[in-house]
Amino acid sequence: MVPTITLNDGVRIPQLGFGVFQIDPGADTEQAVGKALEAGYRHIDTAQMYGNEESVGKAIAASGLARDELFVTTKLNNDRHGRDEAQKALEESLTALGLDHVDLYLIHWPLPQRDDYVETWRGLEQAKAAGRVRSIGVSNFQVAHLDRLAAETDTVPAVNQIELHPDFTQDELRAYHRDHGIATEAWSPIGQGGELLQLQEITALAEKYGKSAAQVVLRWHLQLGNIVFPKSATPARIEENLDVFGFELADDDVATLSALDAGNRLGPDPDEMN
Ligand SMILES: NC(=O)c1ccc[n+]([C@@H]2O[C@H](COP(=O)([O-])OP(=O)(O)OC[C@H]3O[C@@H](n4cnc5c(N)ncnc54)[C@H](OP(=O)(O)O)[C@@H]3O)[C@@H](O)[C@H]2O)c1
Repeated sequence: MVPTITLNDGVRIPQLGFGVFQIDPGADTEQAVGKALEAGYRHIDTAQMYGNEESVGKAIAASGLARDELFVTTKLNNDRHGRDEAQKALEESLTALGLDHVDLYLIHWPLPQRDDYVETWRGLEQAKAAGRVRSIGVSNFQVAHLDRLAAETDTVPAVNQIELHPDFTQDELRAYHRDHGIATEAWSPIGQGGELLQLQEITALAEKYGKSAAQVVLRWHLQLGNIVFPKSATPARIEENLDVFGFELADDDVATLSALDAGNRLGPDPDEMN
């Protein structure tokens, strides 16, 4: 049901997955991930920083799904940068998840003031060579950071996971990704369920298509080619956010949503995050 996107290393990723940021570890995460897998999601996006990898792993084990039916992403925590440290942190994530490899491993933030993301990237290259991860990528990297990886290392990131929603469209970064074979992953794809979903342009399109505002926004991402993983701890919304493959937005409606760009960043500026 969910289409896949082929990354620059040949690995295929389901274009829509399930994000677990801010779901408490323990029963909450196990129930939410269990519900998502039951509903048909096959791609889970977690991070060492979220503290819920172990619960994600328990839900995966309880699902009885074969490992090769699932795509699991996790991310390197900010206090674990460094070539060797990154590989140690990945081993800890694998132990917590109860997996012998993850499908995608990301540097969570570039932390440019520390000036160690190039060395850290070499650690991810080694983890990939050792078979502990199928694809490696980055998150919250800006053009200057991607340029530096290109100049100083041998591997182009498979993805860059960045904040992206209709009122923060990241045109410059998306163009860079397109030119360099990097897939765009959109975090907070529905603007954290906040004011974005109340915008008149979006509610009007929701009415026009007979869909929810969240479904219209997710459809916009999919038609632009973005990879998304909306988070919800609400069973009905978990189903709703996956039910976005039975309709298509007209090109001018996609353009209407893209024109909502107002530079409305919700999270930290990656150049300032330290
Ligand atoms: N790399 C990074 O730095 C980074 C940063 C942030 C997030 N992420 C990743 O991206 C994922 C998604 O981003 P996010 O969690 O920040 O935000 P999001 O997916 O845009 O929004 C989640 C919020 O929207 C609500 N919601 C979900 N479905 C809805 C619907 N159909 N209608 C109305 N409201 C709905 C949820 O509420 P309920 O849960 O109450 O239903 C929750 O409060 C994260 O889980 C994480 O995996 C990565």
